[in-house]
Amino acid sequence: MSVERTGPARLLSTLEPFVVAPWWRFGSLNLRPFGVAVRPDNCFDVLSSRAERLLHRLVRLDRLTFGPEGMPMPRWLFVDGSALPGVISGLGIRADELPPRAVQRLGLEARPSDLVPLAMYIAVPARPPLVWYGHNLASLNRQLPEMELGGLATLTKALGLSIMRCTTQIGATQWTSAALHVHARFGPMELLTAWTPAHANPATLTYKLELDESLLERVAQGIRPGMVTEDPFWIEPRDHDAIRALEERIERGKRFAVVGPPDRKGRVPVAPVSPHQAA
Ligand SMILES: CC(C)(COP(=O)(O)OP(=O)(O)OC[C@H]1O[C@@H](n2cnc3c(N)ncnc32)[C@H](O)[C@@H]1OP(=O)(O)O)[C@@H](O)C(=O)NCCC(=O)NCCS
Repeated sequence: MSVERTGPARLLSTLEPFVVAPWWRFGSLNLRPFGVAVRPDNCFDVLSSRAERLLHRLVRLDRLTFGPEGMPMPRWLFVDGSALPGVISGLGIRADELPPRAVQRLGLEARPSDLVPLAMYIAVPARPPLVWYGHNLASLNRQLPEMELGGLATLTKALGLSIMRCTTQIGATQWTSAALHVHARFGPMELLTAWTPAHANPATLTYKLELDESLLERVAQGIRPGMVTEDPFWIEPRDHDAIRALEERIERGKRFAVVGPPDRKGRVPVAPVSPHQAA
């Protein structure tokens, strides 16, 4: 186990958490995740016109991150499928604290005192009471190398799940996605599917993470989980035959989990779920 104490702590000292949700949800949220207070003026009721300018910048954040992936969200989805049924949380910085010309370079419209979101996590309640479906994780770390934002997506997801009081998270991601490096930080990702024809890209896995507050806090501190097994088998993300064979085994009742981040070749480590892990 290795610990990076400087990165996440530094991010939390320079960036501000924010939350966008309908007014009726705020009472059930944890607005002091890991003791970090979300300022009242960084809590935005999605139905209020006060949220308008931040929502514009969140759409821009999505375009900058998911646009190159070919999966930008339609604008209406920020309300219909995100902040109204669920929660958008993230980390941002005041526009006048960004590096010179970053606002223009990123194509943002912001007054100097405006909060500019640099990362967001979006989830919606899936099965009551505490299962959430995470459908968007975006970070500008790679677009703003001069800011040294390493660990931003990991911290944003951990904060968001704590804000939502989530104890089980499900999600869908492509076998080729760099986000697997982030999601694998939260422990074994049990595979609900390996091949997902319901998705626009069937080479998508759906997964389940079992969480608690202390695990989320460890992830937020930069602590990595150890590999659950020394002996995984490896899925090559473009080997659709192997992915479909894995799916067949799952549909026959076998249980598997992604047990670590992709290796240098992009191969993803998978192992059977051991009986003592079975819920
Ligand atoms: C993928 C994404 C969320 C990562 O954001 P980030 O802030 O750079 O992520 P973090 O700094 O928290 O990275 C955590 C780990 O993932 C690794 N990682 C992140 N992006 C990576 C990439 N493109 N290739 C390889 N590793 C990557 C980091 O190196 C780090 O591992 P390390 O600590 O061992 O070095 C961001 O690049 C993004 O928004 N991409 C486009 C949208 C997307 O694909 N979202 C996920 C959809 S499920």
